[in-house]
Amino acid sequence: MERTLILIKPDGIQRGLIGEVIKRFERKGLKLIGIKMMTLDEAVLREHYAHIASKSFYPGVENFMKSTPVIAMCWEGVEAVETVRMLAGITKARAAAPGTVRGDFAMSVACNVIHASDSYDTAVKEVKRFFKPDELFEYDKTEYLHVYLEDEIAGNR
Ligand code: PPS
Repeated sequence: MERTLILIKPDGIQRGLIGEVIKRFERKGLKLIGIKMMTLDEAVLREHYAHIASKSFYPGVENFMKSTPVIAMCWEGVEAVETVRMLAGITKARAAAPGTVRGDFAMSVACNVIHASDSYDTAVKEVKRFFKPDELFEYDKTEYLHVYLEDEIAGNR
């Protein structure tokens, strides 16, 4: 089953959106298998944001991401990476579709409530970056009986 990383960013923490964000992914039928509050230091942020580290806006992103703890979560489901991206909405939150987290709650390209892994390969790396193996939990979710047909689950990575 696919796993993906979501970070609730400092604007989401400050604006009281933790419950709202979790509720949306829970209601969709995704399964929460890891969650913790953590402070991000410069080293982890430089690694996590390596693809934007040379951009002029990076120092602002780093300061913002260090301004409060974040909530790191690992969610699981069939095609979870793409599903979470769809529910998150596009990076430029003011242009994100209504009904998405960013479309409903944000205006900024940086203060856009959540980070979500952008591909399967990135998700594998990001989950590993933020969670130790014993911080991720395997358990049966009885709701799955009504979320998927059995063969939908069987055929998935
Ligand atoms: S980019 O710029 O093409 O790499 O865009 P994207 O991959 O969507 O964004 C990566 C993260 O960079 C943040 N971002 C910005 N911050 C400040 N100013 C500007 N102009 C800007 N553009 C992108 C954006 O919030 C992304 O953070 P995450 O945590 O991945 O959502």
